[in-house]
Amino acid sequence: MKKIQIINGPNLNLLGKREPTVYGNSSFDSFLDGLREKYPDMEIEYFQSNVEGELINRIHETGFEYDGIILNAGAYTHTSIALHDAIKAVETPVIEVHISNVHAREEFRHRSMISAACRGVILGFGLDSYRLALEFYKIDH
Ligand code: DQA
Repeated sequence: MKKIQIINGPNLNLLGKREPTVYGNSSFDSFLDGLREKYPDMEIEYFQSNVEGELINRIHETGFEYDGIILNAGAYTHTSIALHDAIKAVETPVIEVHISNVHAREEFRHRSMISAACRGVILGFGLDSYRLALEFYKIDH
């Protein structure tokens, strides 16, 4: 059974309430229930924090053991060299995901500090971005 860690960064605890026109009406917990039902052959762990260092700690804790990490670093995507270094430091491939199409939004969202350290990037498909990332890990590479 493949072990996948989903990590959500700052403000993503407010999904469903936060700017619903951008991020939708569904809470992450209810989305996660559906995802676990759809992928019973995968063990999906979930972690969310608004604190940069806690995201880094979680990457360290899972990055030598899990088969995949799906990371939505929220606004830290655009600022955090420390997250870039953490992704580089571990063995587990990390996929960067975003709910919104950051390239169709403000210019400060166009730059990602973490993309170059990630295995790939999926963005703009709403919460389905996370499911598409899971599809990558489902297949053996
Ligand atoms: C986001 C995009 C980021 O620019 C923003 O700061 C977020 C959410 C997304 O999933 O679309 O918090 O990562």
